[in-house]
Amino acid sequence: MKTITVIGAGTMGHGIAQLAAKAGYQVYLNDVKKEFIDKGLERIKWSLGKFAKKKDITEEQAKEIFGRITPELDLAKAVRAADIIIEAIIEDMSVKQELGRRLDKIMKKGAIFATNTSTLPITEIASAFSHPENVIGMHFFNPPQLMPLVEIIRGEKTSESTLTVIVELSREMGKDIVTCKKDVPGFIVNRMLGPLLNEAAWMVERGEASITAVDSAAKYRLSLPMGLFELADYSGVDVIHNAQKYFVRRGLVSNQPPIWEEKVKAQEFGMKVGKGFYTYKQGALGWERPDIPRDAGNNVDLVRLFAPAINSGAEVVRLEIATREDVDKSVKMGLGFPKGILEMADEFGIDKVMDALKDLRSKHGEFYKPDPLLEQMMSEGRTGKEAGKGFYDYEQKATELETLILKKEPENKIAWLVLNRPHRLNTFTLESIADFRRAFLDVAADKNIRVLIITGAGDKAFCTGADLTAFSGDINPSAARDLSAQGHDLFAMIEKLPQPVIAAINGYAYGGGCELALACDFRIAAERAKIGLTEMRLSLIPGWGGTQRLPRIIGLARAKEAIMLARRYTAEEALTIGLVNKVVSNDNFENEVRAFAHELAKQSPIAIKLAKQCLNHGTQVPLDVGLELEAQAFGVLFSTEDLFEGIAAFMEKREPDFKGK
Ligand code: NAI
Repeated sequence: MKTITVIGAGTMGHGIAQLAAKAGYQVYLNDVKKEFIDKGLERIKWSLGKFAKKKDITEEQAKEIFGRITPELDLAKAVRAADIIIEAIIEDMSVKQELGRRLDKIMKKGAIFATNTSTLPITEIASAFSHPENVIGMHFFNPPQLMPLVEIIRGEKTSESTLTVIVELSREMGKDIVTCKKDVPGFIVNRMLGPLLNEAAWMVERGEASITAVDSAAKYRLSLPMGLFELADYSGVDVIHNAQKYFVRRGLVSNQPPIWEEKVKAQEFGMKVGKGFYTYKQGALGWERPDIPRDAGNNVDLVRLFAPAINSGAEVVRLEIATREDVDKSVKMGLGFPKGILEMADEFGIDKVMDALKDLRSKHGEFYKPDPLLEQMMSEGRTGKEAGKGFYDYEQKATELETLILKKEPENKIAWLVLNRPHRLNTFTLESIADFRRAFLDVAADKNIRVLIITGAGDKAFCTGADLTAFSGDINPSAARDLSAQGHDLFAMIEKLPQPVIAAINGYAYGGGCELALACDFRIAAERAKIGLTEMRLSLIPGWGGTQRLPRIIGLARAKEAIMLARRYTAEEALTIGLVNKVVSNDNFENEVRAFAHELAKQSPIAIKLAKQCLNHGTQVPLDVGLELEAQAFGVLFSTEDLFEGIAAFMEKREPDFKGK
């Protein structure tokens, strides 16, 4: 492929010709009048000059590129050598088909015809050709020299090889591509942009927000490159209105509010005429951009604003018009949004989007009916980022740990921290201390996790304390003191975690292992578990909190017996003395632990955190201080949404849904 002919030297055509020449092709540029071609060439020269000034290309390269473009008014001569013809003439089906019929007689055998149409069916344009398999949509964005995306649209008869050639060409032109696999109205980008702009206008029409509020929210809360009404004014209110009319004619259900028609009738086309949704002031560099205050959009309901566009995005995926990745790429590259529409949906939460659509549907009709894909996602629990899966799967980044495994189950709101040295009865090493620290910090910061379970790998040991081989050597009194203090600091982290922590004692829990379990909020033991502070057997005393925590849990007299006689308790004995909360059968151990964790995960995370703090600190302070602590925490809860949810659920006799807010 060596030669490309661009037909139509206007806004889009001149830019496309420049891209083709820059990619190394011989280019012919055609239009109906010489002066239009000349104007196009002038614009190309100007644009290349700008690139050279920015040092993207050298002056030399600019000249070479320009030199590869040949103006040709005679259509037959212009297309004689062309391997690919790209048209960017006026947006009119009959004119495009007429051009197609003429080209069909004169173009090279096997040449490809690509149309830059934004709104017309590729298949219908292709019907003017005797080889519709060689016809394809190649939708650039304005200005083509700068906008990084090309939407490639397959007509009904477009061949695989035509698609391959145009994908390759787009890449040579330095573009990112998305493939629209079906010739549907709006292709990919406009199928979502239409509902978004319409909803923005409806919000204003229905008195839910002002124009500046919507634009401020879009610009400053979502970091879009410009407000939505600003975008409409920039693109041309008439252009958008006409495109929508075409789409409706092609069968797309649209929800255009009357304001578009009114603006067009009033000739308020946007920036190009100085008035659209905004009135533009003439500044030194042309029209000045509207002044949109930063905090004007704080009350705009963004989920409601985006719900219809998300609904369209879901439909595009469900109907296999494009992949979810292409849907998002098209929005990011074609419109400059920082996130794709489906990524936004995952962040909002599919459940929230559904709520918005249902509410809109009940008030404003069937246009807002949620797409079946969203319904399906809800039933599968794919409710977005918070649940760990939505349109995308959000793999929880595992914290890199050597001696532990941190497994998160955000869908259940629980995390498992597994001591992973089963060959050494899950003993502690110095690395374990560092690993525990990292894991606790990770869990503490994770809003999706409401319960942490600590357990041991294998079915023999929970944890049997420090690995004596790892800690032996010439340990001196000062170092031993520090080691003890390190353990204290570490286990204090468990008590300070906002989440409740369950020690799932699956086997031996001796020495430091028992002390680890004592620092947890709950202890559940498997029948086979054996528990004890066995240090006395080595002529040691517990050094990681055992002498202090055990009496607080089982009472002083029993603690003295346990420590001084280095008792090893069976699970049943441990239950009798109040050392564990529960004993469960070995076979059903994991299920029982899970059930306990699920129950905890259902509670309000804020109330749980405060209760944990009051209980843990309460044993360490005089009663009146502890009571004040309780009163303060009690007061704090009255600032939470969860409290009101709890009361509402109680009155409505339903399960509460606590959000931790
Ligand atoms: P334009 O009006 O700037 O340029 C069109 C050019 O085509 C004019 O110079 C005109 O004289 C010429 N022309 C008309 N009929 C012709 C024919 N039969 N043979 C040769 N030349 C002919 O229009 P613009 O904006 O460049 O749009 C061109 C195409 O690109 C349209 O299909 C439009 O939908 C599409 N498009 C436009 C975008 C935009 O933002 N302007 C973005 C993406 C696609």
